[in-house]
Amino acid sequence: MREFVVRIVLAGTLCCLVSPALYAQSDADKIYKTNCVLCHSADGSGGSPTGKALHAKDLRSDEVQKQSDTALSEVITKGRGKMPAFGAKIKADDVTKLVAYIRALPNKK
Ligand code: HEC
Repeated sequence: MREFVVRIVLAGTLCCLVSPALYAQSDADKIYKTNCVLCHSADGSGGSPTGKALHAKDLRSDEVQKQSDTALSEVITKGRGKMPAFGAKIKADDVTKLVAYIRALPNKK
């Protein structure tokens, strides 16, 4: 029993040591899952019924990836066409994290 407790404490300590490195990523992950998945799908494909209906492009495609960080941030902040503006809801810092998150989507396949 004692050994069991020691193991749990050790595992907990390890988690705390590793998580700061993952924090930025999981932060964006959470924001994306809360605000974007409805239209863009978890994998960025836009293959959800809503994404298809609104013609959301595949965020992993060259067409999207070749756009600059500034251009992508602007679409997220100000919206475009049927893409809602998130500037009032998501702070600039987090928009930057989302752009990095979108950049990483093609590698997730
Ligand atoms: C209501 C559905 C909807 C939601 C929610 C949504 N989007 Fe979009 N998004 C779209 C559509 C539709 C487009 C295509 C806009 C157009 O006509 O150019 C788009 C375009 C984009 C683009 C530009 C890519 C391109 O088409 O060139 C980015 C980047 C993007 N969205 C990111 C996000 C992020 C990040 C979130 C969450 C914070 C989000 N979107 C939430 C529907 C949505």
